[in-house]
This record gives sequence, structure tokens and C-alpha cells, in this order.
Amino acid sequence: MTEHEASVDASVISDDPDWWRQAAVYQIYPRSFADSDGDGIGDLRGITSRVPYLRELGVDAVWLSPFYPSALADGGYDVDDYRDVDPRLGTLDDFDEMVAALHRAGIRIITDIVPNHSSNRHEWFREALAAGPGSPERDRYVFRDGHGPHLDQPPSDWESMFGGSAWEPTDDGQFYLHLFAPEQPDFNWHHPDVRADFLKTLRFWSDRGVDGFRVDVAHALAKDLSHPLPTHAELEATRLVTDGSHPLWDREELDEIYAEWRAVFNEYDPPRIAVAEAWVAPSRRHRYAAETSLGQAFNFDLLRDDFDAGDFRRTIADNLVFARESGSSNTWVFSNHDVVRHATRYGLPDDQGQDGAVGRAWVLSGGQTPPLDRDRGVRRARAATLLMLALPGCAYLYQGEELGLHEVAEIPDDARQDPTFFRSPGVDRGRDGCRVPLPWVADAPAFGFGPADASYLPQPEWFREHAVDVEASDPDSTLSLYRRALALRRELQAAETLTWAEHGDDPEVLAFDRPGGWRVVTNFRPRPVPMPAGDVLVASGPLDEASDSPGARELPGETTVWLRVAPSVD
Ligand code: GLC
Repeated sequence: MTEHEASVDASVISDDPDWWRQAAVYQIYPRSFADSDGDGIGDLRGITSRVPYLRELGVDAVWLSPFYPSALADGGYDVDDYRDVDPRLGTLDDFDEMVAALHRAGIRIITDIVPNHSSNRHEWFREALAAGPGSPERDRYVFRDGHGPHLDQPPSDWESMFGGSAWEPTDDGQFYLHLFAPEQPDFNWHHPDVRADFLKTLRFWSDRGVDGFRVDVAHALAKDLSHPLPTHAELEATRLVTDGSHPLWDREELDEIYAEWRAVFNEYDPPRIAVAEAWVAPSRRHRYAAETSLGQAFNFDLLRDDFDAGDFRRTIADNLVFARESGSSNTWVFSNHDVVRHATRYGLPDDQGQDGAVGRAWVLSGGQTPPLDRDRGVRRARAATLLMLALPGCAYLYQGEELGLHEVAEIPDDARQDPTFFRSPGVDRGRDGCRVPLPWVADAPAFGFGPADASYLPQPEWFREHAVDVEASDPDSTLSLYRRALALRRELQAAETLTWAEHGDDPEVLAFDRPGGWRVVTNFRPRPVPMPAGDVLVASGPLDEASDSPGARELPGETTVWLRVAPSVD
């Protein structure tokens, strides 16, 4: 028995088919989580070695971003082989050991599936290039003849999501479509081989014990590329149409594709789950979340809101309705591997908004302007997260947020990895700042990320104070808050309902009750407000320091509290 096996108990995951409805899911970006072999890149054995940490954190599941063989043109979202492990990250045996260790610790695993595009090193794409125009091999992707007298003009003026043309020339007069990087050719989902191969991939990982899938750009697979192709401006103008008529996004044919996937999920007991990454109009989310489809869909609305009581209330209320419509549970998320960390967004000036745009502007300025109030950002992030963890539904957390990490702006250009940086020079510094390897041990090389002296993306000196060993021994740290809140959440989560409560009639204070006498109150004001009645279960910040009138109880500014109150009689 290895040391690791001895350190976990024999608990196994339950066979509850509804386990996902109110789970806390922790996203691992594998290259940046923990490095076991000293090459400066995180790997699967590194994850296995940290299973005790995950168990102590109290999450129900992990979601792993891609770990497949890849040239890393887009951080692994350019997949060479969907049914293997990148040798730098380990082997299929390492994968099996990791799954077993997670399951023994009672933690489920969701893997990322990338169906819109493969990498340009995928066997099928290499065959397509070799076989030439008009061949059946080309038909698995989207190839079109070039325009103009020399066939050197792209078929349309479409721009890729990462900047530049969405069409890449081949050397035989054709172009292929890539909605993302040129190294990510889009599949043709009308092709039966493509459809069959993904069913095979879903079974491959399900058979290895994977509990579910996060589906990358789930709204893009079906496309109408009939002629004449619309212009880029036309595509953009109709991007969020809600009738399924957009040529690229959110088309009706997706229902058919995901119905086939659903049939595969339901071959397993309990059925495998899936969550759609679909940046669609909120009113269309239910299509992906339906139980005949993927079953759950990310809701990025909170992530885009400012730290504002009115915005939060509207988003929560709307999404409770959407969940009822789809029969799925709610999903909530503030941070992931694609966006500026929420501690940083919330530390930027109020008058500039705290959504992605201002966060990216801050990264672009090298962390100089607009000015970042680090303490305020973390204070608000803790308040927002404690609110989120009390909402009915599934909470998605991103590695490092439990340490209160800020975005890293100070990454030298020659260390950057993200294609958005390379394809939009000077305009977007990319997403590397939220992907910097985690600090585990304050006084160790690479802050304990692994045995090497440095990690593949450089860690800033200020990571030291956020190292796991520092935060684990501090009862007031963000890590301690997450641990306490996640443990309590497990005890308290019951029916997926919420009742709004009043706090005086202060519009800047959000209050709601969950079944069983659990009240949640967030003060969005910077100033304290009177403390609501009830026994404090957990608070996102110190409760005693903001009071300037001794004896009077106050809820400090930008703080959330969970209270035990007498259950209401429904
Ligand atoms: C998704 C991923 C993102 C990736 C893109 C292309 O949005 O979250 O990281 O770059 O898809 O696969």
C-alpha cells in the first residue's frame, strides 16, 4: 500500500444519480496544479498526490481541463488524440490511479471534452491535408476553395475568436475553418465518422470510471455553411438570436447530436453527467440543460455581474426560473481558466465595472491601471463566494480561488503561452494570469508546485503569502473559509429552493432563506449595517472589527454571513 493509499479512507462514492444537482465542483487546470516529476509542468500523479487536499477542502467533484496529447497551441484545447494522456502529464495507468484515488476519497471526476475542433496534429486532420481537395478525408473538417484569381483569398471575412482570419490556407488552394486558433480546425459535425468517434470517446472515458463531462463550446458544433456565406458583421449582429437560425452558434441540430450523447450517458449506472459550456442567450440555456440533452449548462451571468446587490438579485432570480424550465439544477461560477480571477475583478474601481473587460484592461496595463485594491477585491470575492455557496444548485470553483489568489499581471512576454496574446499583439495579454501554477509551500522552490526550481509560468513573489501551508494554519485565511463553508454546505443543502428575505428595506443588502433555518445575508455596501438576527454559522470576514459602537452588533461592509434562524413554517 502506498503512503497515499494509506492516507485516504475506504469511503466510496454513492450511487445517487442526482449527485450533481447541488455539488461543489473544483476545476483543475492540470498543467498548473501540481508537478510530480520536476519538469515544471503539472501532471496526473501530481493531482493524485493532492487528493487529500481536495478531500479536506470538501469538494464533491473535480473537473479536469484537457490532459490529452497536445502541442498546447491553446493550453490543451487543441487535442491530438481524444483517448490518451499527454506523455508530459502521465499515462493511462496514471489516469486510472488518479480516478481510483479520487473515488476512494469520495470525489467524482468530470473530464473536458472538446468536440468543436481537434488539433491540426490529429490523425484525421493530417490525413485530410495529405488526401487533398475533394477527398472524403477533407470532409471530416470544413475545407473550402480559396477565392480570387489566385485562389488565395479566404472564403469569407470571418474572424476567429482569438483574432485574425478564421480561415487558414493550405498549400493546394483551399482554406480550412478554425473558429479558434489555426491549430484548431473545426470538425464537420454532419459527418457520421465525427459523430461516431465522439460516442466512442465518451464510452472510453466512462468505462474508465469518469463520472461526467464538461463540453467545450457546446453551442458551436452544428453549422450552416451553405452559400453565400454571411459577412463577419452579419454574424456578429445576430450572435445572440434565440431562434436557432445563426449559422455558427446555438443551432437546432445540436439537439439531435446531444440526444445521441444522452443515450450513451444513460448506458451507465448512475448515468454519466455533462455540463455545457454554451455562451448563449440565457433563455436558450435550457436546451443544453434538458435531461434529453447534456443535462446541465454553465450560467456565466454572475461572473459578468458587478459586485452589486441589484445585479446579483436579478441574476439569481432569473436563473431560478431557467432551472425550473429545464428541470436541471442551477449552476454558478465566478472564475475559471478563461477569465480574470474574481478577486481581481472586484478590486478594480466601481465606476469602470468589474466584468471581464475591465479585468483584461488591467492585465493589459501590466497590473498598473486601473488601480487594483487587492484587499477589497479579496474581501468582496469572499463575500460573493460565500453567497454563491449558499445558492441552490451546483457551484463551480476554480483552482486557486480558495487561496484568494489574484490574477498575475506580471508575466514576461517571452513566458506567455496563450494564443490570444500571440494573435492579438498588444490588444489582449491573454489568459495566462489565472493559470499560474499553485503555491503549496511558502518556503520551497516554486512554492512547492513540484521538485523543479521553477514552474512553466513564473510565479510572483506575492504567491508566498497564499501558499497552502500558510493559509492552512491561519483560521482567518481564505482557504479556511472555503473549508468551513464547504463542510457546512454539505450539512445544510436541502431542497433546491430559496425564499427572499428582507433586511429592513435596504436595497444594498441581499438576504434569503434556504430550507431548514439557514439564512444568508450579504452586505454589498462598503459600510456596516445592523447585524441580522440569528446564530452566526460562518462569515466571509471578521465580524468584530468594523463596529465603532461597542456592544452593537454589525455586519461589516462587503461581507456575507450564514445564520441559523428558526425554520419558517411553510
Ligand atoms: C473554451 C475553453 C477555452 C478554449 C476554447 C477553445 O472556451 O474554455 O479555454 O480556448 O474553448 O477550445
